Amino acid sequence: MTEPLLDLDDIQAHVLPGFGHEHQWLLGWRLPGDEPAGAARALLAELAGRITPARRGLADRAARRAVRRGRTARSRLSGRPATAVALSARTLRMLGHDELATIDEAFTAGMARRGYLRDPPPGDWTVGGPGREIDILVMTAGEDLERLAAAVEEIRAAAVRARCEPVHDQQGRRLPGDVEHFGFRDGISQPVLRGVVDADGTPLVERLPMPSMPDHRAYAGPGDVLVWPGQFLFGLPRQSETDPVRSAPARRAPGLARNGSLLVYRKLEQDVPGFRADTGRMAAGLGVDPDRLRAEMVGRWPDGRPLVRTDDATGAELNHFGYDTAVPAIPGGPRGADADPDGARCPLSAHIRKVNPRDQETDKGPPSATLTFAILRRGITYGVAGDGDCGLLFLCYQTDLVSQFELLAQRWAGSPDRPRQGLDNGVDLLIGRVRAGTARRARLLPGEVSTFADYVIPRGGAYLFTPSLSALRVLAA
Ligand code: HEM
Repeated sequence: MTEPLLDLDDIQAHVLPGFGHEHQWLLGWRLPGDEPAGAARALLAELAGRITPARRGLADRAARRAVRRGRTARSRLSGRPATAVALSARTLRMLGHDELATIDEAFTAGMARRGYLRDPPPGDWTVGGPGREIDILVMTAGEDLERLAAAVEEIRAAAVRARCEPVHDQQGRRLPGDVEHFGFRDGISQPVLRGVVDADGTPLVERLPMPSMPDHRAYAGPGDVLVWPGQFLFGLPRQSETDPVRSAPARRAPGLARNGSLLVYRKLEQDVPGFRADTGRMAAGLGVDPDRLRAEMVGRWPDGRPLVRTDDATGAELNHFGYDTAVPAIPGGPRGADADPDGARCPLSAHIRKVNPRDQETDKGPPSATLTFAILRRGITYGVAGDGDCGLLFLCYQTDLVSQFELLAQRWAGSPDRPRQGLDNGVDLLIGRVRAGTARRARLLPGEVSTFADYVIPRGGAYLFTPSLSALRVLAA
């Protein structure tokens, strides 16, 4: 099947390939009560020239990788901050684009109304609570903090001129080794978009032939599962629910939505001392090593090795594994790995297993259906552990909030007997949320554990729409 052309000059770089910079700044504004549309247009017009297209994002990412591998001097990096903008349903309505404001039921309602997520009451939120909803979110990132701070200053001044009311100002910073605050390496497993980038049919991501791999046409390389781009970008073919290789029609959406995406932003505070103490208590109760118990909650060791693999996996091996079936060795690449269908090495309640059951059948159907629930994660850590507020600025992209982010975060992470129906394995102890006053329970390898502690506390956020660059020009006009 021919893969669609991805318009790298129209898609925002924050969607594809994401900002991998060391520093990132999130700025949020609420539109003023009088003449909100004028204020929105004024700010968007000032921002339009700053927004980074995917093409530049990919070039900058390649340059950063070359520096990391010692192939280029750091001074060769452009140093230009990358910038993205996303809008609330209210902003789109104010701008007269109801057809975009109603593109997705959860987006139209807004995060605060999604009781299903079992968040703390929006009145307690520090981001996006009542009267402080984010109507326009700007994300800007760079390697050089001074240059980034100067860009942030210019954007703040533009918002003052546009009479937008600042409601959010949050800095993020990647931790050394790309770990999150509990100490586990993050950002290993991501879906790879199908699609070509030129008339010659050059794929966005090069394909490594792996004929020995079952369903090898579903992979770009070991562990790099291919997903049709319409799962993340409007106007493009989506993933078939029944065939891992085939496409399905694009989600119904107005033409202006094309190359745009829905953004989930959640500020997730992490109680690092609480996590360490509580998991230490559980481990002592079971007479096991606390580090092992923590790894079982994640499904990976702190350095990223998956619990499913028992070897000293590195590089491409970190994501080359299945749960139901063994994966073969790839000639010239990673070694093979045994399967773990019943959770003998990696518990069924482990975070990575809850949010991506990979090749296992789920309550929603065959493994091919799971590909339609994938999200593009774009989060970054904030704060310093042990020094007050710290956690994850969770950001992810999709074209269907209910059957992608919400399904993973609540239907699967928050249910004791899903995604593997009929087996009570407990919830995802990192992010699974249960009714207030109820203990969170999970079955780990040494036995069952139970806690009233929340290690990850949602502090609010927003559901937003990240338009294409061409749509942004229309919205600003
Ligand atoms: C503070 C909260 C969170 C922490 C500490 C955390 C931590 C991690 C870690 C350490 C990994 C393994 C690295 C990797 O495989 O890339 C991971 C993977 C993942 N997380 Fe989270 N996470 C958090 C919140 C969330 C939320 C809210 C979601 C939304 C549903 C989510 C979805 C995922 C997904 C989809 C993967 C990849 C799983 C795979 O493909 O195997 N995470 N997370």
